[in-house]
Amino acid sequence: MENFPVINLDNINGEERKATMEKIKDACENWGFFELVNHGIPHDLMDTVERLTKEHYRKCMEQRFKELVANKGLEAVQTEVKDMDWESTFHLRHLPESNISEVPDLTDEYRKSMKEFALKLEKLAEELLDLLCENLGLEKGYLKKAFYGSKGPTFGTKVANYPPCPKPDLVKGLRAHTDAGGIILLFQDDKVSGLQLLKDGKWVDVPPMHHSIVINLGDQLEVITNGKYKSVEHRVIAQNDGTRMSVASFYNPGSDAVIYPAPTLIEENNQVYPKFVFEDYMNLYSRLKFQAKEPRFEAFKESNVNLGPIATV
Ligand SMILES: [Fe+2]
Repeated sequence: MENFPVINLDNINGEERKATMEKIKDACENWGFFELVNHGIPHDLMDTVERLTKEHYRKCMEQRFKELVANKGLEAVQTEVKDMDWESTFHLRHLPESNISEVPDLTDEYRKSMKEFALKLEKLAEELLDLLCENLGLEKGYLKKAFYGSKGPTFGTKVANYPPCPKPDLVKGLRAHTDAGGIILLFQDDKVSGLQLLKDGKWVDVPPMHHSIVINLGDQLEVITNGKYKSVEHRVIAQNDGTRMSVASFYNPGSDAVIYPAPTLIEENNQVYPKFVFEDYMNLYSRLKFQAKEPRFEAFKESNVNLGPIATV
């Protein structure tokens, strides 16, 4: 098995540019995942986000999680749990408008740091989308525009903690799924592991690495690239000891963006993916997240009859 792809983004502006672009291309085509180092986000900001996220979990989330586990009797299960995840989460929205000031239980310092972090991640996401455009032979800005809709992209963060689990063989931290959206930027714990992706039928660890950002591609990039790039199934294995932090930010299309394969990526009239409005896809995804993605695409092929000239074959 080849090594998990690690991209040094510093090299994008120097002599190593060509090799780095090639590495990104290979990661997008064959992994759906890669890990970025020297991505330009200040390490001290990441340290602050980590410290405040862990403090917030201990102060505001841990007890609630323990009560939930006790209520559901999750510690004593004897058979595999298929309808719940061993995770404690909350969500923040940054775009089209921020809801950070309304999310309860956050300190001012935490709100400020998350805002600053999100702004850096938004820039990084857009920079990455342009690198993908370059590798795909699409004009600069194509993907950003494809995601834009009438109000710009949707950008949000899922803050999760995966506490120690007494039955990791029976309860997943997070059950296997592909991500619905565009491009995902993950700041994960550098000590407690657990994230795995499915590659060639085998589960592969996404290695914890200090100050790295893990990138993965969502279903919308699979559709726009007409399957040249794929969203890849991943899951979180709960651990016996240690709490794993996961701060995952989702740069997604705007709710009314119309998503369809880029015409230049359709070879010999072979349009494999449908055209749909992103919000409709999300409505379907919210019910079918933990199922295979193919039926989601199929469902829109059937309804494409009414969607005009770019309708699928
Ligand atoms: Fe995910």
